[in-house]
Amino acid sequence: MSAKIISGTEIAAQIREELKKEVAELKDQHGVVPGLVTILVGKNPASVSYVTGKQKTAHELGFNSIQDDQSENIAEADLLKLIDKYNKDSKIHGILVQLPLPKHIDEKKVLNAIDPDKDVDGFHPVNVGRLMIGGAEVKFLPCTPAGIQELIVRAGFETSGAEVVVVGRSNIVGKPIANIMLQKGRGANATVTIVHTGTKNLEAHCKRADILIVAAGVPGLVKPEWIKPGSCVIDVGVNRVGEKLSEKTGKMVPILKGDVDFDAAKEIAGAITPVPGGVGPMTITMLMKNTVASAKMHAGLQGK
Ligand code: GUN
Repeated sequence: MSAKIISGTEIAAQIREELKKEVAELKDQHGVVPGLVTILVGKNPASVSYVTGKQKTAHELGFNSIQDDQSENIAEADLLKLIDKYNKDSKIHGILVQLPLPKHIDEKKVLNAIDPDKDVDGFHPVNVGRLMIGGAEVKFLPCTPAGIQELIVRAGFETSGAEVVVVGRSNIVGKPIANIMLQKGRGANATVTIVHTGTKNLEAHCKRADILIVAAGVPGLVKPEWIKPGSCVIDVGVNRVGEKLSEKTGKMVPILKGDVDFDAAKEIAGAITPVPGGVGPMTITMLMKNTVASAKMHAGLQGK
């Protein structure tokens, strides 16, 4: 039997509709408009495209959204001053500095300069620590892992007591999603294993997984025979394996492949995310969710 395809595109659109209503209510009832600034240093084409997508979505949801473009040559001290300006700006609830930064700038210093209560990326060490502690401590979950959790919950999979196996231990996906899944509460409370390049028997671990989350960045790493029948497979890999001519635009576009052999895996899994159109569309949406949460938090409206 073929697996249910978990469409990140559809789920992200649903969440954006919910957020749009919430933003309108915040504005009407409390005079609060979520404010998001995205700071882009230089003109890296991939970064320009990501930031444009973030701004477009923020605008569509009715945010006060600012795109702050800075020269490739900006001094680190000037970038830190700019962040400080937004830290003090009461109309701004979310600050995102698009990564990667040019080599002359210390990325860690820059991320650490963002007010943790405006760090809607969830990359500041304070927010990483808050996630580790869990519960009411948590202010902002990092966007991609938060999106993965939403996909699992909205696909109807029970996480409590489930065997979750995470392939990959990066700071932006592997470690935080493992941490999220082991918290107490909705969409979590799982038994979590992280496997990585040092793991002895990758296949044996994957075979045990009721929920398999793969974020290794290796195209086709997970073989269909490693998948437990009926399980939920979340493929976070977005690997460029070549180029093709787009029939729509007549331009060359990248061919993207996940970390899982999708065509074969979908005959075994109970549900699976496609690449593209799975985890990808959720990341920007969760950034918007964090920004709305931040606006509420700064207005003293949490949980209302
Ligand atoms: N570059 C690629 N993805 C991201 C992201 O999620 N946040 C930031 N700040 N930079 C990125």
